Amino acid sequence: MKFFVDTAETKDIAELAATGLLDGVTTNPSLIAKSGRDFIEVTREICGLVDGPVSAEVVSLDHEEMMREAEILRKIADNVCIKVPLTFDGLKTCKKLTGDGTMVNVTLCFSANQALLAAKAGATFVSPFIGRHDDNGFDGLDLIRDMRLIYDNYGFETEILAASIRHGVHVLECARIGADVMTAPPSVIKGLVKHVLTDKGLEGFLADWAKTGQKL
Ligand code: E4P
Repeated sequence: MKFFVDTAETKDIAELAATGLLDGVTTNPSLIAKSGRDFIEVTREICGLVDGPVSAEVVSLDHEEMMREAEILRKIADNVCIKVPLTFDGLKTCKKLTGDGTMVNVTLCFSANQALLAAKAGATFVSPFIGRHDDNGFDGLDLIRDMRLIYDNYGFETEILAASIRHGVHVLECARIGADVMTAPPSVIKGLVKHVLTDKGLEGFLADWAKTGQKL
């Protein structure tokens, strides 16, 4: 499973990129606003930090305007992936952009039928929002299961990008189901390495090593 980080904070992205475990980045208008940075400038900087796709989202609702914004965004760098909302205008934009060889992430997916439409529109990625699904009393993981089944039934190449990930159990379940990618905040990705028995075991090994008086 590919790991994308869901943030526009360049310090966090650089730190995770240095581990070699990061495959891409997702941003959205809320994350850009939170960063306090200029959209184009921060997106350019992020694109230089990772080799993989960097999702940058259009902010218009109609197809023509989305195409105009996508033109600006895709000129930033070769690894920009245009993010469009799951609406008919967004799907029309997706079809046009992917037809030209541009990567597209169709976002705000909350149903399997929406996911089917995004795949038919040729999306590179489709983003089901797991956490927001759960927040509203639905099982976000059921959506991922349905998507996996449907995409495999028809051999769609669209990648399932599990988004709105809130904790390690979401990551684990998405990996079990077979999501192609997951995007999570830096804190969730960093938390995956933690285990109390790893810490305890390491503490014991280092204490015993110190008793030997040896050095490496
Ligand atoms: C995905 O691309 C979105 O940016 C993101 O995962 C949304 O997550 P949230 O529901 O925690 O805001």
